[in-house]
Amino acid sequence: MAVKITVSGAAPLSLSVDVVAIGVAKGVKRTGLLKELISAVGPGVSKAIKRSEFTGKKGQICEVSAGGKVKAGAVYLVGLGDPDTLQLACLRRVFAKATRRANASRCVSMGIVVPEVDGAEGVLAEAAVLGAYRYEDFKTGDRLSKYPLAKVALLTTNKVNQALRDVAAAGQRLGEAVCIARDLINMPPNELYPEVLANFAKQVAKDRKADGLTCTVMGHKALKDRGMNLLDAVGRGSVRGPRVIHLKYSPPGGCKSGRKLVFVGKGLTFDTGGICLKPAPGMEEMKGDMGGAANVVALMAALAVTKPDAEVHGIIASAENMPGANAYRPGDIFKSYNGKTVEVINTDAEGRLALADVLHYATELEPDFLLDNATLTGACVVALGPTVSGYYSTSDALADRLGAAAKRAGEAMWHMPLVEELREKLNSDWADVKHVGDRWGGSITAALFLREFVGDVPWIHVDVAGPSMADKAYDMYSKGGTGHGVLSYLELIDDLIANGLSD
Ligand code: BES
Ligand code: ZN
Ligand code: ZN
Repeated sequence: MAVKITVSGAAPLSLSVDVVAIGVAKGVKRTGLLKELISAVGPGVSKAIKRSEFTGKKGQICEVSAGGKVKAGAVYLVGLGDPDTLQLACLRRVFAKATRRANASRCVSMGIVVPEVDGAEGVLAEAAVLGAYRYEDFKTGDRLSKYPLAKVALLTTNKVNQALRDVAAAGQRLGEAVCIARDLINMPPNELYPEVLANFAKQVAKDRKADGLTCTVMGHKALKDRGMNLLDAVGRGSVRGPRVIHLKYSPPGGCKSGRKLVFVGKGLTFDTGGICLKPAPGMEEMKGDMGGAANVVALMAALAVTKPDAEVHGIIASAENMPGANAYRPGDIFKSYNGKTVEVINTDAEGRLALADVLHYATELEPDFLLDNATLTGACVVALGPTVSGYYSTSDALADRLGAAAKRAGEAMWHMPLVEELREKLNSDWADVKHVGDRWGGSITAALFLREFVGDVPWIHVDVAGPSMADKAYDMYSKGGTGHGVLSYLELIDDLIANGLSD
């Protein structure tokens, strides 16, 4: 059930809701609303602050049971950190967390006091949607939550007019777009296979046709006839054939900037490892091996909200990696769509093969910029941990801009090097190239392999294997699919349009 978000000028302490969340900066100065709260509730506030060791640190939450003159059932004091460096991304993160806590505590209604930061209503609407997110499509009866958060009021001191309501509504739709990625990742792999992912993407485009989205799908035969032998190889062990999904956003009023940007996603709806079968423990997590593709669908849905002045393509290589009588093997050699022959070393390194063909397909569009994102390597998770993605680029300037975009979005991403010395690990005795190096630098050699297929198009590769799924909720992310990446790409697109692409 979607949470209903309103903007209101009501006084926070006279609102009758289950909980009101109030941002408090580091130092916990007893001024403004906090002062009012103390005089309305009494010494309980300071006691709660003391007991929970609340210092106003970013993301801390101190729960105060209300009473006295406060109408809300409870008040959350939400740490904002240093007030001098307070950014929208921080507001999104901490209030998504507060909303999640309210939802988990069976609050059905909530007020969020909007801090005085430009544009805060928009990101708080996003935060409310992200925090209220739950995936319950496969639960029944008692397993369904009885008290889902239904209403969030954004309590602002700004003038509540249609323009402000539009800002909040756009924020809500952006949050919902990110949740498309979460839904897709959380869907079980028996229900979500390449054909279903393709139909889902088509529906997303159809629902947003007036906002500039279209979608075409290449079926199994079409992609094979076209020469995408690597993607075909990855999918051939499964009875569910592979697909290439091509979404396109065109600005409804025509594209003035003339920019063409392409985003590519790995869409393995399940990765068993194939003939090089993965061990059983944890294998169920490989339903999320389409996290990069999910991000692409979500990003395209978000563009229908933000409507940037650029032509943006979203391209997905989707397949299911299964062992089977017809499955591809180590030692096999295939001719990729760009003509290079590739020796297969390990069938569990399927993502880079599937991506190679669609990366070349993307270059045929002659874009100004190409970004792929993929749950590509366990090695990247070993390097950076489960909450940080690693990105690689053929241009340091572009990499810096993704880094800055990720910072603005509040997503954790780290620049990794394309170490040239490792390129020789991909030399094959039998084909033009092999697709896996040795154990060392596994995330880097995967990126070096992808680089073989992007020609001279300015390119970034983001390995989201860690943060695409969360084993527990944190920050603005819920457990399971996160949509990590989408907000950063949105920021990057804005930057590329505003400031161009030259190094
Ligand atoms: N889908 C996996 C990578 C992955 C690991 C995603 C953990 C999310 C969490 C990928 O297809 C894979 O299996 N990669 C292998 C490559 C190896 C065989 C060279 C890996 O990382 O072990
Ligand atoms: Zn794999
Ligand atoms: Zn995989």
